[in-house]
Amino acid sequence: MTNRKITRRQAIATASAGTLGALTTLPFTSINLSNTTKLAIHGGNKVRSATWPAWPVWDPAAETDMLQMLRSGRWWRGRGEYVEEFEKQYASLMGTKRCLATASGTTALLVAMHVLGVDAGDEVLVSPYTFIATYNVIFMSKALPVFIDTDPETFLINPEDMEGKITDRTSAILPVHIYGLPVDMDKVMAVARKHNLKVIEDACQAWLGEYKGKKLGTLGDLGCFSFQNSKNLPTGEGGAIVGNNDDIMDRCHSFHNCGRPFGSVERSSEYPMRGSNRRMQQYQAITLLSQMKRIQADADRRLENALYLDKKLNEIPGIKTYRLVTEEARSAYHMYPFRFISEEFGGVKREKFIEALRAEGIACSPGYGPQNKEGIIEEALSSKGYKRLFSESRLRQWREQNHLPGNDRLCREAVIFGQNMLLGTRSDMDDIAHAILKIYENRESLR
Ligand SMILES: Cc1ncc(COP(=O)(O)O)c(C=O)c1O
Repeated sequence: MTNRKITRRQAIATASAGTLGALTTLPFTSINLSNTTKLAIHGGNKVRSATWPAWPVWDPAAETDMLQMLRSGRWWRGRGEYVEEFEKQYASLMGTKRCLATASGTTALLVAMHVLGVDAGDEVLVSPYTFIATYNVIFMSKALPVFIDTDPETFLINPEDMEGKITDRTSAILPVHIYGLPVDMDKVMAVARKHNLKVIEDACQAWLGEYKGKKLGTLGDLGCFSFQNSKNLPTGEGGAIVGNNDDIMDRCHSFHNCGRPFGSVERSSEYPMRGSNRRMQQYQAITLLSQMKRIQADADRRLENALYLDKKLNEIPGIKTYRLVTEEARSAYHMYPFRFISEEFGGVKREKFIEALRAEGIACSPGYGPQNKEGIIEEALSSKGYKRLFSESRLRQWREQNHLPGNDRLCREAVIFGQNMLLGTRSDMDDIAHAILKIYENRESLR
């Protein structure tokens, strides 16, 4: 492969000739172009028949601990040495003073919100481009999610859209490092400091991602992680909160353990604060301890492959890889995202492109839809509780503000690959680029 850059205009002009002869002038000289004549969706040969790396990967070395724990009957964290060991190791990996393991990422967010004082009738600034759990937890806290528009180029919260949406009820910001891409935390923290807001990072997809030398999830007041089965650090279901403030982390511990005293939480009664059962179990911790042995090497491999893929895909007209918010950041890649610009791809619809890419043997999906328009919103806002907590005029204004052109655009253009694909080889990445290029060359047949 050559790294020679061509301009988008040159590429379009060259490739629009639509012949294999023209293709050789595109910068994929290492790719075998012999099967570019007919798309697989139209009965041609697929670019790739091999499967992608399987996920999750079980390490048999963990079986001794698992069996021992099962036989011991010490299955819960009350007497659970593995959960504590995981907390110690995860805090050290993240570079924080403390970690609290939880039953899931959702429960981690719920605990963090409660302890940081997000209360009924509050408002929380949040990105709409996320898994639904992010704002479900705001609703569960009886607060109002105030959506901040997404910057389609970064796939992330647009910090410029935050200040105008702050009211006297706003108590927190919930930035989401979606797909493991780092949010511009300097800008988020500046707004938070100016308006005295708490910051809870949804780092549920961002293990080992970095921003200016710090791990994602360690820049705000608290950071929350998920270890659900598909995640880069998986254990079926599981989560964690990380932080540096002992008092806050003690309160998180108490809350997640039914409000029982812990550390600095007052011991004047058996249940000095409200709480819930959000505890992690021992088997979850054993799996995590074993999965943590591979997480750094996996993260390095994903990054290396993603950077390689970036270079290749950026040379194809109509394909736009995401923009990193600063050079001093590192993405964790729970997904590899790019935008598909139909107008630059001969007017082919994104859905058709995805169908054609899948037919070539490249697993992909369109990512999140415009969830700020989901049924959950009206279901919540028209409920008895929300009508009590928020005035009619505030809810009307909220509905009027719920227009997010950046997010809508991203939801129309995004295409994503799973993190397991980035654990493949260079030649696997070439397959991806080759398939997209083949579709580009045959774009006329897809319209
Ligand atoms: C961005 C984001 N936030 C929150 C969650 C919730 O985590 P969990 O599924 O572990 O409850 C997830 C999980 O998919 C997520 O991706």
